[in-house]
Amino acid sequence: MKEWLDKISNADSLEVLENLRIETLGKKGIIPAQFAKMKDIPGPEKKAFAENLNTQKTQITEALEAKKEILEQQALEEKLKEEKIDVTKFNNELTCGAAHPVSLTMDRIIQYFQNLNFAVEEGPLVEDDFHNFEALNLPKYHPARDMQDTFYNKDYTLLRTHTSPVQIRTMLSQQTPIRMIAPGTVFRRDFDLTHTPMFHQIEALVVDDADKISFANLKHVLVEFLHHMFGDVDVRFRPSFFPFTEPSAEVDISCVFCKGDGCRVCSHTGWLEVLGCGVVDQNVFKAVGYENKSGYAFGLGVERFAMLIHNIGDLRSLFESDLRLLGQFK
Ligand code: PHE
Repeated sequence: MKEWLDKISNADSLEVLENLRIETLGKKGIIPAQFAKMKDIPGPEKKAFAENLNTQKTQITEALEAKKEILEQQALEEKLKEEKIDVTKFNNELTCGAAHPVSLTMDRIIQYFQNLNFAVEEGPLVEDDFHNFEALNLPKYHPARDMQDTFYNKDYTLLRTHTSPVQIRTMLSQQTPIRMIAPGTVFRRDFDLTHTPMFHQIEALVVDDADKISFANLKHVLVEFLHHMFGDVDVRFRPSFFPFTEPSAEVDISCVFCKGDGCRVCSHTGWLEVLGCGVVDQNVFKAVGYENKSGYAFGLGVERFAMLIHNIGDLRSLFESDLRLLGQFK
C-alpha cells in the first residue's frame, strides 16, 4: 500500500498520475481485484477485510485527487509563464501608413484650384448615354465615340469614360457663373503598359456670359497651374480635337526627365502630353439649355501627373499595392 502512495506522490505528470489511477482504482486495478477476493474470505473476517480495503481505497483516492490538484496547478503556472505578455514593453517604432501617390496628387491639384475659388463637384460613376456622350456633342454613331472604349451595362447605362459628364450635370443644376473642378474615377476598356481599365481624372469647367471667357483665360490658368505642379517647364498648346470643345488643344510640357533633350519617356520628342482642353462648344450649351454663354474646359489624368511628379516608370505599379513603393510617400 505504502508503495502505491509513494508512486502517487512522486508522479511528475498528469499522464503518469492517470496511469496510476487506472492501475489502482481502474476496473482491472489492484483495489477492485482485492474486492473480488472478498467472496473467498471466511465469514468472521469479512468485515475487517472490507473495512481495511475501504480505508485503502479512500487513501488512494484522496492521494490521487491531492496530487492531481498540484499537477494541474503546476501545468497552469507553466502555461501562464509561457504565454506571458509584458504590457510594459512598448514598441516605440510604431509604423503608420501613407497616402497613395494618386491621392496625394489629386489632393494637391484640388487644393490648387480651390485656392482659385473653383468649387468641387461630383457625379455618378454609372452614367447614361446622355450625360457621357450625347450632351457633350457626341451623337449616337458619331465616329468620335470610338476614341473611348466604353464598358456598357445591360440596361444601357455605362461606366463613365471621362469626368466630362459632370460638366453637364453642373450646368443643368446651376446658373452661371460656373467655376468648378470634378475629380473622380473613370473607366475604359484598355489595359497595357500605359492604360488601366480604371483611372482618375480631374475635369475643370468655367462658364460665364458670352465673350467673357476666352482661350486666353484658359491658357493663362493652365500655364500657371503646370508651373505650380512641375516647376520651370516649357508649356505648349497643340491643336487637337474633342467633340465638346472648339477650338481644342492638347497641352505638352517639356520632358521633366531629359529637360527637352529627348529620352525614352518622351519618345525622344522632348515633350510630354499632360492634358486636353478647349473652349466649350456651343452645341454643349445648347444641350443644357444655356444661351449666350462662353466657357472653357479641360481634363487631365491624375495617374499621369503622379508618375511624372514622383518619377514612377510603370503605370501598373500604382495599382499593385507594393509596400516598397507606397512606403516612400510618408
Ligand atoms: N474628356 C476628355 C478626355 O477624357 C478630356 C477633356 C476634357 C478635353 C475637357 C477637353 C475638355 O480625354
